[in-house]
Amino acid sequence: MKDFAGKVLFITGGASGAGFGQAKVFSEAGCKVVIADIRRDHLDEAMAYFKEKKEEVHAIQLDITDRKAYTAAADEVEKIYGSPPQMLFNTAGVNAFGPAEASTFEDYDWVVGVCFGGVVNGMVTFVPRMIQAGKGGYIATTSSMGGFMGTSGCAPYSAAKAAVNNLMESYHQALKPYGIGVSCLCPGGIKSNIAESSYTRPDHLEKTGYNTNEKTIEFMRHHYSFGIDPVELARILKKGIENEQLFVIPVPDPEEMLRNNFERIINYATPEGMKRQEELMKKHREEMRQRMGGDDGPMKGAGEAGWGKAREDLTWVKDNRPFGKSGARETLNNRTEENNGI
Ligand SMILES: NC(=O)c1ccc[n+]([C@@H]2O[C@H](COP(=O)([O-])OP(=O)(O)OC[C@H]3O[C@@H](n4cnc5c(N)ncnc54)[C@H](O)[C@@H]3O)[C@@H](O)[C@H]2O)c1
Repeated sequence: MKDFAGKVLFITGGASGAGFGQAKVFSEAGCKVVIADIRRDHLDEAMAYFKEKKEEVHAIQLDITDRKAYTAAADEVEKIYGSPPQMLFNTAGVNAFGPAEASTFEDYDWVVGVCFGGVVNGMVTFVPRMIQAGKGGYIATTSSMGGFMGTSGCAPYSAAKAAVNNLMESYHQALKPYGIGVSCLCPGGIKSNIAESSYTRPDHLEKTGYNTNEKTIEFMRHHYSFGIDPVELARILKKGIENEQLFVIPVPDPEEMLRNNFERIINYATPEGMKRQEELMKKHREEMRQRMGGDDGPMKGAGEAGWGKAREDLTWVKDNRPFGKSGARETLNNRTEENNGI
C-alpha cells in the first residue's frame, strides 16, 4: 500500500508510545485516524495534541480484551465514517518482568490476554468487515524482537509476541486474495510509557509472581528512555507497509538479526549445537555488557530496584539472578537475554 490519503485507520494503543507515533505519522500521511486506548488520560493528552494540529482524529476508550466493547467500537467507526476502517494497527500491549518459574496464572492471563488475545480480538472483529467492504486494506501489528526468542525473565510476554509473529504470517497468506496486506513490526526498545503497564492491570488479575512496585516502574521508565523515538519507528513501519513486507524490523541489518536467531534455534536441535550455543551466549553476554553496561546505561538501577525478581514471599525461587548494589553490571552478567528486545 502506498496511498494513505483518506483511509480510515484504527489504532489500538494509539494514545501513547508506538501507537501515538503511528497516529501522528499516518494522520500526516492523510489517514483518518481513530485512536483506541484503555487509558482516558492518554486519550485526552493525545487528542489535545491533534486538536492543536487541527488533524481529524477520533478517540475511543476501549479495553481490547473486552470483545463486546470491541464490536461496539467497530460499529462506532462504521457509523462515523460510513465504512469499516481500511487499515488496522494492533499496537496496544503490556509487559511484566520476573522469573518464568514465578509466573502466576494471572500473569499469563493478563499479559497474553492483552498482547495476543487483544490482537486476536482485533482480527476477528475487523477482518470480516474489511473483506465484506471490498476495498482491500492493510493490517499492521506491533509485536517485538522478544517474539523471536524465549526469555527467562519475561516468559508470558515473549510467548505472546511469538504467537503474534506466527499469527501475522498466517493472515499475511490468508488475506492476500482480498487485497489486504499484513505487516508485523518487531521493535527492540521504544521510548514509551510501557513502564506503567501495571497501572491498567485488572483487579481480578492482580496476583503476580513478580516483584512489581513503584521502584521497578521507575527503573523501567529509565530503561525505556533509551529506546527508539515512536515517530521514527512509525516512519520505518510506513516504509515497510509501502514495501508490503511481512516483518518490519527496525535494525540496520534485519537479515543478519534473523539469521542469528535461526542459528540459535538450529543449535538447540543437536548436542554439538547445544555446545556451540553455550559459547555464543557467552559472546553475546559480553557484547551486551559493552553495549548496555556503564553507570549511565539502560540497566542502571536495575539491581537497587529489585527489577526482574520474584515476589518476595516466593522463597523457593532460586535467586540465581543476583541483582546486587552495582545493578547494571551484575544484572548484565546474569540476565542479558531479558533486556534484549523487549
Ligand atoms: N516499549 C518497548 O520497548 C517495546 C518494545 C517492543 C515492542 N513493544 C510493543 O509496542 C507496543 C506499544 O507499546 P509502547 O511501548 O508504545 O507502550 P505504551 O504504554 O506507551 O503504549 C501502549 C498503549 O496501549 C494501551 N493499552 C494497554 N492495555 C490496553 C488494553 N487492554 N486495551 C487498550 N489499550 C491498552 C496503554 O494504555 C497505552 O496507551 C506494545 O505492543 C508493546 O508490546 C514495546
